[in-house]
Amino acid sequence: MTYQRRETFLPFTRPMVGPEEIEEFIDSVNSGWITTGPKAARFEEELAAYNGVKHCLAFSSATAAQEVILQLLELQPGDEVITTSMTWASTLNTIVLQGGIPVLADIDPKTLNIDPERIEARITPRTRGIIPVHLTGLPAPMVAIWEMAERHGLWVVEDAAQAMGAHHGGRKVGSDPRSVASVYSFHPNKNMTTGEGGALVLHDDRLLDRAKRLRFHGIEKDAWKRFSKEGSPHTEVMEPGRKANLMDIQAALGLHQLKKLDGFNARRGVLFRRYLELLKGTDGLVLPWEGDAVHGHCFHLFVLRIQPERVGLDRDAFVQALKDENIGTGIHYRPAHIHAFYRDYYTQNPQALPPEGLPHSEWSGDRLLSLPLWPGLTEADQDQVVAAIRQVLKR
Ligand SMILES: Cc1ncc(COP(=O)(O)O)c(C=O)c1O
Repeated sequence: MTYQRRETFLPFTRPMVGPEEIEEFIDSVNSGWITTGPKAARFEEELAAYNGVKHCLAFSSATAAQEVILQLLELQPGDEVITTSMTWASTLNTIVLQGGIPVLADIDPKTLNIDPERIEARITPRTRGIIPVHLTGLPAPMVAIWEMAERHGLWVVEDAAQAMGAHHGGRKVGSDPRSVASVYSFHPNKNMTTGEGGALVLHDDRLLDRAKRLRFHGIEKDAWKRFSKEGSPHTEVMEPGRKANLMDIQAALGLHQLKKLDGFNARRGVLFRRYLELLKGTDGLVLPWEGDAVHGHCFHLFVLRIQPERVGLDRDAFVQALKDENIGTGIHYRPAHIHAFYRDYYTQNPQALPPEGLPHSEWSGDRLLSLPLWPGLTEADQDQVVAAIRQVLKR
């Protein structure tokens, strides 16, 4: 078949918001209760039920949830937290903002996730915890991480921002009490969205009240109860807290997105495997791993790595060439340690990088791009993506 350039631009992702979400949103607006209230409370209950956990608190973002959990865990200036550079910078930013030091360990190039074998060498007397990231929606190898954490008396917080609905060892990612907490993101690019939004799973009942307090100005009570008939108009600030609550108009979207999530993820899985099938054996491309029975992918991203030495183009030129064919792509992510701030930071804190550097993170970070993937993508769209890739490679 002769190649035909796509006529309209195909974005790399698009949120799937339907009439149910819109109706629920309007209902919120009309009810007079726009900010955090009954819908946010219901959303939290449904999130907890979905994940099979006791407590799941809704937040304004995954980043805000991570700020609160690090504060709750009383991370002190100079404390070290081991994590990966192959993540969004917020994973590191929240540690730095709390005064901690993000100590980096390299990834397993097969999965793009932190390599547990590289974590142990990074542990020092100042290490407090480990933050693995389930990048692309593929669960990190948690069993090895939990065992190591237990041996060294460290906590584990899972960055499950990209992994809502993924499974690990037969449970929902983020639901295992061997981690102290997990965070999810509901940003519009994620597998389900509330506009901006996030959630925090907490396994320790003792942390719950303070987490709620730190989420909302350090106030003791749920704000919405203050103005209801049974509530008291008084507030009491117990400590300086953040403003990190999820609004009802956001929860309105989330309530319906959550119901659709498993269907969305199943469709993503079909498209992910179809990409694998269509691109199998293409010279110059490294295809992603689809997970296994223990690491149950939620297919958030289909991340391709191109080998410039075989393709004759570097990643950025390849991305541009696809854009010229009307195919949008994403980059998830440039490793955090090469961003301007972190270049300086690790120059000043060289002990926080491994002596051998992060060769696998850098190799993949230079070569990766995310292909269009969302539940509404059609097989015909996908065929055009693959045809455009072949066309670019042929040239
Ligand atoms: C791995 C990872 N961690 C954290 C975040 C932050 O999520 P949010 O935008 O909800 O704060 C993201 C979002 O892009 C992410 O991909």
